[in-house]
Amino acid sequence: MRFRIGRPGSTPDRERAEERAYASGDAERPSAEAPLSEHEIHLIKSSAAAVAPVAAEMTVYFYAILFTRHPEVRPMFPSGMDAQRGRLLRALLHIVDVVDDPANLVRFCGHLGRDHRKFGTLAAHFPAVGACLLASLARYAGPAWTQDVADAWAKAYGVVSQVMIDAAEEDAAVRPAVWPATVVHRVPRGHGIAEVTVRPHLPYDYQAGQYVSLETPWWPKLWRYYSPANAPRADGTLTFHVRAVPGGSVSDALVHRAAVGDVVRLGPPMGDMVLDAAVHSDLLCVAGGTGLAPIRALVEEVARRGGRHQVDLFLGARTGAELYGVDDMLRMAQKYHWLTLRGAVSHEHIPGIRGSLPQVLAEYGPWYQHDVFLSGPAPMVESASETLTRHGTLPDRIHHDPFETPVLSAR
Ligand SMILES: Cc1cc2nc3c(=O)[nH]c(=O)nc-3n(C[C@H](O)[C@H](O)[C@H](O)COP(=O)(O)OP(=O)(O)OC[C@H]3O[C@@H](n4cnc5c(N)ncnc54)[C@H](O)[C@@H]3O)c2cc1C
Ligand code: HEM
Repeated sequence: MRFRIGRPGSTPDRERAEERAYASGDAERPSAEAPLSEHEIHLIKSSAAAVAPVAAEMTVYFYAILFTRHPEVRPMFPSGMDAQRGRLLRALLHIVDVVDDPANLVRFCGHLGRDHRKFGTLAAHFPAVGACLLASLARYAGPAWTQDVADAWAKAYGVVSQVMIDAAEEDAAVRPAVWPATVVHRVPRGHGIAEVTVRPHLPYDYQAGQYVSLETPWWPKLWRYYSPANAPRADGTLTFHVRAVPGGSVSDALVHRAAVGDVVRLGPPMGDMVLDAAVHSDLLCVAGGTGLAPIRALVEEVARRGGRHQVDLFLGARTGAELYGVDDMLRMAQKYHWLTLRGAVSHEHIPGIRGSLPQVLAEYGPWYQHDVFLSGPAPMVESASETLTRHGTLPDRIHHDPFETPVLSAR
């Protein structure tokens, strides 16, 4: 069985259009016949439930046998595996969530396959990972592991691998796996934040509002996501707003160590928090901390398109001093009549608006006719989203990035 997947280099727009067409039955469907029978799906789901309580132990075992049996793949992984450890296996188990939904399976695994090119993954590596996955499941599923269960997992893994391999191959025909980029500027902004501007060595196509995975020379194989704070520029540079998190590896290196001339590597752009996701002409943008970056890029994009949207932008922070990027955005608000800026400070009494972002939003609404773009700490995004939904905004009008391991949340 061979699945067809989204076109290589496809944009969020095109993917959405394909999805709509797919849903309405107008599209050339991916070979969407269910790859597994209901019985096989049942076997996979129940065995996955059996290993869930011992997933952490199983993960350690999985990597131990993978690296012992196949030492050649070890260099592809970070040297310290603690923070990363769960990801690959978690994704393998996530197959369980999508296995009975062929369209979702194809989309999810297509993203994964394209994303894996930056790790140096080759088609030849898949059988090794598959065999170790099955061996780990067999060891930890206990009596739930039967020949039928093993066969169902082998089949599911085969389908997933093929989609990933096909997606990676198609992607390789149209764009590089990674983009080296030279640091051309680094400006400290206080509060452990720096603006880091890089110039990719090859053309890098992305849309305002997307995010990018990035690897630094100081932490090889540690890929982290950052959102360009600018719409695509004529000179091809991208500016990231990076906050050094306490004990953070990559963020600390970018904020305190990166210097002009250093070379980082970028993975492909991801994310669909882009302007074309907006159906209505008026936008509500809400940003907390360095979450301002993609919102700033979207504001630049609105300007690039001639200011056809009214944009209400709320910046949130706990204290006035933490209100990040406010001067820059004030300058933009003075320049663009369609942009209104408001600050919300929750833990300090200063002139201006007070209260948490959700409170302030509720006060200034209604927003149910707006397309909403939220960016910042997960609790802020979640509570703002909840407030807006409660006040009538339809969930599909609310756009925000995933909170972690985006590829697992790719829709
Ligand atoms: C879609 C997306 C877009 C992102 N965009 C940006 C951006 O534009 N600018 C930016 O600065 N960051 C952004 N991030 C966060 C970024 O990807 C990293 O997670 C962050 O820089 C920490 O990486 P690190 O290697 O320094 O820390 P790690 O070494 O991974 O973590 C070290 C310690 O810090 C904790 N930690 C990790 N992340 C955070 C955090 N955000 N806050 C508090 N503690 C944390 C960990 O739990 C761990 O204890 C984004 C994340 C996602 C998923
Ligand atoms: C069905 C097969 C596979 C699935 C579902 C899968 C899934 C994932 C996921 C979700 C991540 C985290 C990505 C991120 O954080 O952005 C990941 C990371 C990674 N995968 Fe895979 N993967 C598969 C096969 C493989 C194979 C065959 C290899 C090659 C050895 C591989 C090597 C890696 C590496 C090196 C990383 C990065 C290190 C890390 O973050 O742990 N994967 N994988």
